Amino acid sequence: MNDSSSEPSLEVLLSSSQIAARVRELGEKISSDYQGRTPHLVGVLKGAWIFMADLIRNLSLEATVDFLGIQSYVAGATSSGEVKITKDLDVSIAGREVLVVEDILDTGRTYLYLQGVLSAHHPKSLRLVTLLDKTARRAVAVQADYVGFQIPDVFVVGYGLDYNQQFRRLPDVRYLRNAVGV
Ligand code: IMP
Ligand code: MG
Repeated sequence: MNDSSSEPSLEVLLSSSQIAARVRELGEKISSDYQGRTPHLVGVLKGAWIFMADLIRNLSLEATVDFLGIQSYVAGATSSGEVKITKDLDVSIAGREVLVVEDILDTGRTYLYLQGVLSAHHPKSLRLVTLLDKTARRAVAVQADYVGFQIPDVFVVGYGLDYNQQFRRLPDVRYLRNAVGV
């Protein structure tokens, strides 16, 4: 189903059915990779919560969850890499098989910072699953272990992602027309 006519300024990039199919595949891959283990999913708020809710329901193994709240400082149109933790983890990740769940990897600066913070707590393993990856925008050497979709350099909203806290509710991923390079 597609209700894009009610949001004329937003073009659908990934439909909810495309997303659902891909999240199912990611769930299967992660379940097979972590077979016999219990991954600890750490969702990065707020953008990743919808993706994480769908992902965990596509896992065929037990997983525990926690959330990290962060605020990335944006300099101009791009993330500065300066990150403020607004909600810390509730439980220790020491010795755990941590799988960070992100909405989007853009310049990579936010994840580079998180990687440093999380590694310092000695997880047994640390991996990243991101729904979206804007590879063309990467400014630092980080990459995700699991990627839902590679997307072009457009500013996207929906399925948890926002523009000034708006549009998180949209069931599909849409882009702001003429917002290329934001
Ligand atoms: P990075 O540090 O440049 O990788 O960007 C990290 C954060 O910027 C993401 O977790 C998002 O919160 C935000 N972001 C980057 N690109 C987009 C986008 O196209 N739409 C919405 N948020 C974005
Ligand atoms: Mg984010």
